[in-house]
Amino acid sequence: MIGRLNHVAIAVESVEKAAAVYKNALGAKISKPESLAEHGVKVIFVELPNTKIELLEPFGENSPIAGFVAKNPAGGIHHVCYEVDDILAAREQLKATGARVLGDGEPKIGAHGKPVLFLHPKDFCGTLVELEQA
Ligand code: CO
Repeated sequence: MIGRLNHVAIAVESVEKAAAVYKNALGAKISKPESLAEHGVKVIFVELPNTKIELLEPFGENSPIAGFVAKNPAGGIHHVCYEVDDILAAREQLKATGARVLGDGEPKIGAHGKPVLFLHPKDFCGTLVELEQA
């Protein structure tokens, strides 16, 4: 079921500062910052040959990552995103194993304009997992 690693998301206080680290220290190619009000995040993508790093900064009043950044002021890995071919089939298969789907369990349109679901970190080795229908 699980496909490619679409991205690793790192939540930070400032995506500009984080992007400068990736650009200057690691020589990575970075995107322009984008504020996604409906997701409560500001994003810069680091483009790698085989995947992406998504740098996330809290944006607006009720950012879903505000608490995480408050607890991790130096930044930290927030989630990993795996691609699946059919998100509803993946959801049913996971629910049958007892895995918990977050929120109301219905796919939402994610930061890349594609349907996504999030899975409970306690069911996946302490890591918040995003599934994206590629
Ligand atoms: Co993501």
